[in-house]
Amino acid sequence: MKVPFLDLKAQYETIKDEIATVIQKVLESTAFAGGPFVKAFEDDFARFCGCTHAVGVGNGTDALWAALIAFGVGPGDEVITVPNTFIATAEAISFCGAKPVFVDIEQKTYNMDPDLLEHAITPRTKAVIPVHLFGHMADMDPIMRIAKKHNLFVIEDASQAHGAEYRGRKAGSIGDIGCFSFYPGKNLGAYGEAGAVVTNDQALADKVRMFRDHGQSKKYYHDMIGWNARMDGIQGAVLGVKLKFLPAWTEARRKHAKQYDQLLEGLPGIVLPHEAGYAQHVYHIYAIRNSRRDEFMTALGDKGIATGIHYPVPLHLTGAYRHLGYKEGSFPVSERIARELVSLPMFPELNQAQIEYVVAGIKEFMCN
Ligand SMILES: Cc1ncc(COP(=O)(O)O)c(C=O)c1O
Repeated sequence: MKVPFLDLKAQYETIKDEIATVIQKVLESTAFAGGPFVKAFEDDFARFCGCTHAVGVGNGTDALWAALIAFGVGPGDEVITVPNTFIATAEAISFCGAKPVFVDIEQKTYNMDPDLLEHAITPRTKAVIPVHLFGHMADMDPIMRIAKKHNLFVIEDASQAHGAEYRGRKAGSIGDIGCFSFYPGKNLGAYGEAGAVVTNDQALADKVRMFRDHGQSKKYYHDMIGWNARMDGIQGAVLGVKLKFLPAWTEARRKHAKQYDQLLEGLPGIVLPHEAGYAQHVYHIYAIRNSRRDEFMTALGDKGIATGIHYPVPLHLTGAYRHLGYKEGSFPVSERIARELVSLPMFPELNQAQIEYVVAGIKEFMCN
């Protein structure tokens, strides 16, 4: 049997008639860049997140960058985030001319450790970007408390956490602004590149809207230096269709995760994902820890089971961020989990036989 890491085709098969219909509508209306399909999706996505505004942009990296620009982050500023994230979180900070400052993560949730946040704050700190890694939200109450005390903006990187919850509140709705990626493999994925910011602040939403469209307040009147970061019409239409299915897809992911949990529980040598009491995990990634990761992945690969690593090198040790001066040992929890985490197949259309096959493969390896 083959178990892919992700199966976008299986999902497409279930919605292809609706997708064909909306794409046809976009083609007929020629609303290719921005336009009514993007606007309709923005309204639906804002509602889904429990926010008053959503602004569609070109991708998740644009969303983070636009959010930072909207807060006026620039050269001389520092922005605090975590080293165990996709590089885009830090790149957006760098592309504003600001400096990423990292804090380590919690052992259990793999998210920003609020107890370490305050030590990283300096007079130059302007904002904090907690990342809701793998679909599990960071501990937002203490993060918000500390940010408020020090007058910092909070930008949630919710790129992996569409629909995740913290004490009943949706990802993206707790900080000053929330940023999402709709990269095709995400829980809500476009058929191309797309992203969005959500916020309850009208002025911030207006700034992001202006930024994404060359700083225009009206056509060819440019009030600020912006960028071309618009969402395209086909992506807006596709996302509008897919958003309706997201709650059911999330339920399926949670069911699969529970099943992995039950079947793998107590197996010596592996650590299962943790769901904190405050959290509703959406399992973008189901990652387990195993100190023999490389052999483990090879053994599963030999059985046709695809696995992944998110992420093999913490950002402070990547070539791109070596200049920041961090060293091996600077963030021990992030470094350890980068050596041990391995992501198992996880997508809504995963079936019972596939889950059992993955678990059997893991048990066979662990018991030998
Ligand atoms: C945590 C995180 N932040 C930012 C991004 C960037 O999103 P995009 O690839 O849409 O630019 C991603 C997506 O890969 C991500 O996982």
